[in-house]
Amino acid sequence: MADIFERLIQNYGPIGQYRERAHGYFAFPKLEGEIGTKMKFRGQEMIVWSLNNYLGLANHPEVRKADAEATAQYGLAAPMGARMMSGNSDLHEQLEKELAAFEFKEDAILMNYGYQGIMSAIDALCGRHDVVVYDAECHACIIDALRMIPGHRFVYKHNDLVDCEKQLLRAQTLIDKQAVGGILVITEGVFGMAGDQGKLKEIAALKKKVPFRLLVDDAHGFGTLGKTGAGAGEEQGCQDEIDLYFSTFAKSMASIGAFMAGPRTIIDYIRYNIRSQIFAKSLPMPYVVGNLKRLALIRSKPAFKENLWKNALALQNGLKEKGFDIGKTDSVVTPIYMKGGVEEATAMVMDIRENYKIFCSIVVYPVIPKGHIIYRLIPTAEHTQAEIDLTLKAFSETKAKLDAGLYKSDLIPDMANK
Ligand SMILES: Cc1ncc(COP(=O)(O)O)c(C=O)c1O
Repeated sequence: MADIFERLIQNYGPIGQYRERAHGYFAFPKLEGEIGTKMKFRGQEMIVWSLNNYLGLANHPEVRKADAEATAQYGLAAPMGARMMSGNSDLHEQLEKELAAFEFKEDAILMNYGYQGIMSAIDALCGRHDVVVYDAECHACIIDALRMIPGHRFVYKHNDLVDCEKQLLRAQTLIDKQAVGGILVITEGVFGMAGDQGKLKEIAALKKKVPFRLLVDDAHGFGTLGKTGAGAGEEQGCQDEIDLYFSTFAKSMASIGAFMAGPRTIIDYIRYNIRSQIFAKSLPMPYVVGNLKRLALIRSKPAFKENLWKNALALQNGLKEKGFDIGKTDSVVTPIYMKGGVEEATAMVMDIRENYKIFCSIVVYPVIPKGHIIYRLIPTAEHTQAEIDLTLKAFSETKAKLDAGLYKSDLIPDMANK
C-alpha cells in the first residue's frame, strides 16, 4: 500500500515543483506597506500592477476610518453564529438591500467569500436532472462547483456563440429525454485573465431558442463597467437578462465577502439552502460596515471609475502604440502576450523588478501553453501618468532584451527566501 504523504512529495504540482527556487519571489511574494500603487518588495519600492484594487478604495481615508471604527465598535466576533441561527443583523440585511438596488435586482444574499459562495450557490441551484452549460474559461470557483453537482454539464468554447447554442441544444435534447430538469448557463462578465467581456447580450438572446437561466460571475465588472458601475450587464444593456448576478468584494470593493443578486423568490431559496452560509459563521460586522461604506462611495463618486478608465486606456493605448499584443481586452484588465519559456519569463520578471522597480504578475506554462508568457497588469484609479510612462519604458526595453535572447537560460533564477 502506498503512503499518501510519500506520493504527494514526489510531485508538488505545477507551480509547487519550482518552489525551492521561487518561494517568496515568483510565488508567495510579500508586498509591504500601505496598499497603493507603490509598495515595498524585499525592501525596494516598486510600482505595483498586481492588485485588483481597481477603484483605489483599499486605502481611501473614509474606508479606513469606517473599517477601524466598525472594528472598535463590534470586534471581529460579532455576530456569533450562522445567519440562519444567531448571526443575522440589520446591517447584514441593509447591505443586501443596497447591493440588490445597485444591481437593479429584487434581492441579494451575502456570502463570506466569493470562491466558496458561488460554489455553494451553484450546488444549491442545481438538481441531478438539471444541466449546466458553461464557458470553457470560467474561473476555478465555477469549474470546481461543477465537480460537485450531480447533473450533466456541457462546456462551450470560450465566448463562442455557435458552440454555446450547440451545447444548449444538446442540453435540451437530454432534458427532453429525461422529461425533467432545466438549464443553467454560467459565464463571466469579464474574464479575469484576458480581460474580454463575456458576450452576455448575445448569450441571453439564445433564451429565445432554448429556455435557460443565466448566472454571471462579474467579479471584474462590478464597479468598473456600466454607467453606474453595476457591471458588465449594465455596460451591455442586458442587466435584466441576467437572472443571477454574482460578484466578490475582493476587487473593486477592496474587501472580503461576496453576494448574489436576483429575483426575491430565488434569493430566498438560496438563503435557506446555501450550505456554505448555513453551516458557517456569518460575515463579521466590520466587513459588513466597511462594505456599506465602500458601496456608498462607489455610488456617490463616479470619479473613481473615471480615473480607473483614464489610466487603463493610457496604459493600453501606450502598449498598443509600442507594438505590444494586448489581445482582446475590453475591460481594464490588461494582459501583455509574449513568447518565451518559463526560464526566460522568470529572468525577465527579475529584470523588471530589480532594475526597473516594477512589480506585476506573470502567467507561464503549465497554466498556459508552453512557449507563451502573459503579463497581467491591473490598472487602478490611483496610478499616475508618470507610473504608466515608466512602466511602458520598462516593458519596451525588456521586450527588446527578450527578443534578442538575452534572458535565455536553462534554469529559473534561484530567488527563494532561504
Ligand atoms: C471571476 C472570479 N470569481 C470568483 C473569485 C473568488 O472570489 P473571492 O476572492 O472572494 O473568493 C475570483 C477571485 O477573487 C474571481 O476572479
